[in-house]
Amino acid sequence: MKAAYIEQAGPPENIQFGELPTPEPQAGQVLVRVNAVSVNPVDTYIRGGANYWPLPSPFIIGCDLAGVVEKAGPGATRFKPGDRVWGTNQGLMGRQGTFAEFCAVDEHWLYATPDNVDDQTAAACALVGVTAHLGLVREARLQAGESIFVHGGTGGVGSMVVQMAKALGARVLTTAGSDKKAAIAKELGADQVVNYKTQDVEAAVKSFAPDGVNVFWETLREPNFDQIVGYLAERGRIVLMAGRDARPPFPVGPFYVKECSLHGLVMFKASPDELRACADDMNRWVSEGKLKSQIGQVLPLSEAAEAHRLQEANTLHKAGTLAGKIVLTN
Ligand SMILES: NC(=O)c1ccc[n+]([C@@H]2O[C@H](COP(=O)([O-])OP(=O)(O)OC[C@H]3O[C@@H](n4cnc5c(N)ncnc54)[C@H](OP(=O)(O)O)[C@@H]3O)[C@@H](O)[C@H]2O)c1
Repeated sequence: MKAAYIEQAGPPENIQFGELPTPEPQAGQVLVRVNAVSVNPVDTYIRGGANYWPLPSPFIIGCDLAGVVEKAGPGATRFKPGDRVWGTNQGLMGRQGTFAEFCAVDEHWLYATPDNVDDQTAAACALVGVTAHLGLVREARLQAGESIFVHGGTGGVGSMVVQMAKALGARVLTTAGSDKKAAIAKELGADQVVNYKTQDVEAAVKSFAPDGVNVFWETLREPNFDQIVGYLAERGRIVLMAGRDARPPFPVGPFYVKECSLHGLVMFKASPDELRACADDMNRWVSEGKLKSQIGQVLPLSEAAEAHRLQEANTLHKAGTLAGKIVLTN
């Protein structure tokens, strides 16, 4: 089968596109014929040599996939050949990734793709969607009528947070780095969008939520806690999920006096049952049209190295040339 893989961690040029043996589904696995995958920042960190866990060699890159079950392995009962499925959390914790024609996946990481949802949408919503759901529902316990601020309303995670917060009945304020991106964030349902390059974010927060926002979702890798705590209402919750190397100062006094709380998460530590709870809501919202993918670029799988360059230029180097997800197709 064709696959995008690395034999050694390093720059995007280390990604090879070529033939690897088609995997055989093991106990509890199904073999998925992959139609669409999407790129996440974590793919670039792992490819670059982030030492989170030992990698198989060769290592097929990528976490997200959508496609059709080709074959069920021994004891796999949830799906049968021909079923459309999507999933995430592959290429992580030492598992092989998804950027290939076929992928053998433990069936507990897969979900049925609704009939009215295409594979590109399913792949684009996967990792970023479960991350947003874990943060909003399991961690922040966002309630209808509450307000939330999220940085980057057209980003991979940010665009999911905007839409899911609306689906949960909250009021959403978000940022965008251009007027074009601000218009996209509005279309995704944000109640208010502030262009952080040309407008005063603090003034926007004050007019949107005079007593402060109930939840602050940080997508940036270097949070400014003085600012964040200043934006929060009493008993406000902060969701953190980026910036492994960040060591910013923290305003202890203002934080505890407001009785705020801090919630960190990484999606790959969620259990199969926790992720399935996210996927159930996502499937419902996406088939009802409440959750849309925000796809910024579609490329063939053979251009995986270029896709990594584009993702890195934006997430790490803030190029601002991407709005949402990069999807690759077989
Ligand atoms: N913990 C987890 O489980 C988990 C899961 C997924 C992702 N992550 C991490 O979360 C981070 C975001 O991931 P992603 O996929 O959403 O990345 P992304 O698609 O690259 O989005 C980054 C966003 O940040 C915005 N941004 C950049 N500089 C900004 C600034 N100064 N002020 C306001 N907004 C700014 C960008 O907005 P503009 O384009 O408008 O500038 C963009 O929307 C990454 O570090 C990733 O590794 C963690």
